[in-house]
Amino acid sequence: MTEKWVEEAWSKVSEKVGRTSAKIGANFPHASIDGKYKLEAPHWWTAGFWPGLLWLLHRDSQDESLKGIAEECEAKLDKVITDYYKLDHDMGFMWTLTSLTNYKFTGNEDSKRRALLVATILLGRFNVNGNYIRAWNPWFEGNENSGWAIIDCMMNLPLLYWASEETGDPRFKNAAMKHADMVLEYFIREDGAVHHIVRFDSATGEHAENIGGQGYAPYSAWSRGTAWAIYGMALSYHYTGEERYLQASKRVAHFLLSHLPEDMVPHWDMRIPDDVPKYRDSSAGAIAASGLLLLGEKAGPVEGPLYRDGAVAMLKSLYENYGDWENEAEDGLILHGTGHYPENSNVDVPLIYGDYYFVEGLARLKGYDGLF
Ligand code: GLY
Repeated sequence: MTEKWVEEAWSKVSEKVGRTSAKIGANFPHASIDGKYKLEAPHWWTAGFWPGLLWLLHRDSQDESLKGIAEECEAKLDKVITDYYKLDHDMGFMWTLTSLTNYKFTGNEDSKRRALLVATILLGRFNVNGNYIRAWNPWFEGNENSGWAIIDCMMNLPLLYWASEETGDPRFKNAAMKHADMVLEYFIREDGAVHHIVRFDSATGEHAENIGGQGYAPYSAWSRGTAWAIYGMALSYHYTGEERYLQASKRVAHFLLSHLPEDMVPHWDMRIPDDVPKYRDSSAGAIAASGLLLLGEKAGPVEGPLYRDGAVAMLKSLYENYGDWENEAEDGLILHGTGHYPENSNVDVPLIYGDYYFVEGLARLKGYDGLF
């Protein structure tokens, strides 16, 4: 039976999104600044989270207006598919929560075609010498980043696993597993802490260096990257059955669970000097919680409850201590996310991916078993 607080939280989310969906419409919110969600262009990596959140609510309420907005967002993404310069590895995030979700929920064949096309383009970013999926395109004239891989990409792999299942062609899954194995070798450290960025020589594939990225330093422990690793490795285990991915997800989960403050919501980096501000990153908490729920299902009856109980405590704290429910002057659901501390961007604000994974976590507690 679903716990009372989960139903209560779900109804608060539904009420609030009922209000904000009319305001935000078929657009791509990212961070809420001074109470208002700032909209991004459709090619930004966060484009899938708002439609993804609406799909989850529609699935429960059958509210056609939410489905309509999600479908409009999906259609707006079409022009990005043909933009070579804008498409990067985050097409997994973007089309998993739009086209793939639409196909899974409604059987829409156009959505399936879109998802397969995007999976094919994502496969094209695989570097066969380094066994990694290239993360980004150059950020500015002369920027050379063809050797960069980032931990977030673990969440882009499910689109590839799905494409192999759907088509019977193993190439997508082969590349995804090679990338996941590369992450085991170069990203996840002995103690379960995780690098954000690893650079390879893109010609030879040799490891070049580790980079701090959105974390404090190369050997600190960026919380959201930790969350992507827990969830991404659990997903790779789900799609492949390979025990090493399950073990990796557990190792990183142990690191995170043993570094949480009292309210169970992580600081933006879990290994920072005392003089650095310890803002929370509620989005990392929400992502980790949803991932821990999956890990809890996979880890079996003895170990599973450890992860599930941690996830429930995190989601409950997000609901009680970080949720913004009745306030009409705030678009975001979950306060106190940190987007990119080293660049001082979107610090201590609601983030659409924090909102999405919080709602996904609640949906899982209510019995939703769909997978990213
Ligand atoms: N994928 C970028 C981030 O987590 O901020």
